[in-house]
Amino acid sequence: MNRKINLLHNMRKYIVAGNWKMNTTVPEGVALAKAVVEASKDLPANVEIVVAPPFTHLAPVAEVVKGTRVKLSAQNCADHEKGAYTGEVSVAMLASLGCDYTILGHSERRQYYGETDEKLVEKVKLALAGGLKVILCVGENLDEREAGKHFDVVTAQIENVLFHFTAEDLKNIVVAYEPVWAIGTGKTATAAQAEEIHACIRSVIAGKFGLAAADDLTIQYGGSCKPSNARELFAEKDIDGGLIGGAALKADDFIAIAASF
Ligand code: 13P
Repeated sequence: MNRKINLLHNMRKYIVAGNWKMNTTVPEGVALAKAVVEASKDLPANVEIVVAPPFTHLAPVAEVVKGTRVKLSAQNCADHEKGAYTGEVSVAMLASLGCDYTILGHSERRQYYGETDEKLVEKVKLALAGGLKVILCVGENLDEREAGKHFDVVTAQIENVLFHFTAEDLKNIVVAYEPVWAIGTGKTATAAQAEEIHACIRSVIAGKFGLAAADDLTIQYGGSCKPSNARELFAEKDIDGGLIGGAALKADDFIAIAASF
């Protein structure tokens, strides 16, 4: 890819991840995972493919993706290591199932389940200590965008969480920029709108951790990403993949997005 020529280190990975959210039964999820594994065989090797099914699906989906190029992610993890936290799922539990990643800080968790940046610091610490990589979601809502605060909101989310970590830790962290107004709405950010936030995130990271760390960081875009708009988004120099919701529930669409690099 041409844009790789601009990279200092060439370590940056392209990652397309499917966040299934609270969709599919276990048999449906297993069938979807099988279809993703099958369809991903023909993709170029430089794109990493990740599926993030609900907790209940992780064990059987782990069996499906074992030994394939498809990586497994949870959608969340507990903010404590273990103990009396009814209903929670720990990092150790996820790692023992073969999870490679966990998504953290998705806007739906921030919005509906009171996830705060403070809690996210704890979760990211636990995830990294337990051997999981993290896909950390950030993004402004519609009011914040209309008030012209999107750069400030996203910068604060990055600073509040990632500034507690080191450049070494960042090697196991992916950032996903997901403008809340684009999630599940069919209203995608334009490539230019996404690119300017991605570039801002990279420069905030560069300011704190140095150019090399910023250059190596994978920054995904999420929010109504689909086969018809993925190519334009991924052509931007700071957009290194996608975190896909609705379109990840159809293996063909998901793989078509991943094939857009
Ligand atoms: P949609 O692709 O359905 O807009 O969802 C994006 C998302 O929230 C992925 O985490």
